[in-house]
Amino acid sequence: MNTMYEPAPKANTASAASSWMRLGPWYAMFPLEFAYEMIQRYTDPGDGVLDPFMGRGTTLAAAQALGRGGLGSEINPVAWVYAATKLHPAPKQAVLQRLQALFNISAALPAGTLPDAPDPLPEFFEWAFHHDVLRFLTVARRELDWRANVVDRTLMALLLVDLHGNAEVSLSNQMRQTKSMGPDYAVAWWKERGLRPQPKDIQTMLRGKIERRYRYGVMPPQPIRTLLGDSTQTLKQLRPRVTTPRYRLLLTSPPYFGLVNYNRDQWIRRWLLGGPWSNSTRGSHKHERDFANADDYRQLLTDIFTVSRRLLTDDATIVVRTDARPFTLQTTREVLQSVYPEWTLQECAQPFGVRTQTHLFGDNTGKPGETDLIFTRSRLASSRAPAAAAPRRAAPVAP
Ligand SMILES: C[S@@+](CC[C@H](N)C(=O)[O-])C[C@H]1O[C@@H](n2cnc3c(N)ncnc32)[C@H](O)[C@@H]1O
Repeated sequence: MNTMYEPAPKANTASAASSWMRLGPWYAMFPLEFAYEMIQRYTDPGDGVLDPFMGRGTTLAAAQALGRGGLGSEINPVAWVYAATKLHPAPKQAVLQRLQALFNISAALPAGTLPDAPDPLPEFFEWAFHHDVLRFLTVARRELDWRANVVDRTLMALLLVDLHGNAEVSLSNQMRQTKSMGPDYAVAWWKERGLRPQPKDIQTMLRGKIERRYRYGVMPPQPIRTLLGDSTQTLKQLRPRVTTPRYRLLLTSPPYFGLVNYNRDQWIRRWLLGGPWSNSTRGSHKHERDFANADDYRQLLTDIFTVSRRLLTDDATIVVRTDARPFTLQTTREVLQSVYPEWTLQECAQPFGVRTQTHLFGDNTGKPGETDLIFTRSRLASSRAPAAAAPRRAAPVAP
């Protein structure tokens, strides 16, 4: 067995892979090094990788760079736009032209016009963006057909990345955190500090960001598909062997029980995708909330790992990274053992890599960490995988 794995490119490597793979801030994203090693350890070039909780598409980006195919499905449109874009970005010139077209539409609007904005404008938007920036964003929100058009989706992904954050380098007023803050909290925070949104030359800023993103080109395409929607439904509709190949590795990380609300914590980006002008989560899909009901959580895992099984080869390996807290870990282990009874479990309580997924999102509060559950078919375990999965130790988490 070959154990000399190609390392994941570092963030500052001069390559297309490095530039595109990390696109899009997302909570609990995989460290690239982890995806790289798992894919090389359990698949060969030409095999396919499945990720039913795709997030921003780290698994599939690594698969693409390593010459594998794949399939991912993700319920949150922000994460899906990032993933779909990094795997199949539109040509740069088309993206720059579309950007210019949006600026032209924005410039032609009568002063004070904000397409589709409610009247009165919610106070949050008065403070979050300078008026000229907000006019451009409302045009982008109305015009970009990100679901169906690859140029529009690519431009949307690049706008989403820099929609809010540090005022120096993003489109917004200064934000306190990476995730979307609640509107009332944010307005109080800006008022307390007298932080009015300043005018910005966003044409130059955005053109520069696009040029930099494409400076090393794009990754060579692979047969990889990304589906937008609840994986219990999107994967169920696929017909293995007829229209869908079977995958050799399931590499994924489900939401952790009761920890993150991907919907609320991304509400400003969801707004740009056409979502509501507030952080209300009313009416959204039950799988987009907190994952804090124990029965629902178990059902979600059962449903998704069951529909996934139909799409895997008989010798597939299943690698699931999850929260080390007892409920999430125990539930995930039990569900996987019931859906994959013929497989053998190796459990790695000290996850691979130097930083946990929550650390990657800037959370250094010392959560209990993560565990990798690796299921191999026993007759194959000895030939394809080392007896002990030999993950590198994670750096100790600060108490
Ligand atoms: C821990 S994150 C995965 C992060 C991913 N490994 C990455 O590197 O970006 C879990 C993801 O599952 C998604 N999710 C939750 N319920 C889902 C469902 N029913 N169908 C599809 N995706 C779902 C969440 O929106 C979230 O992006």
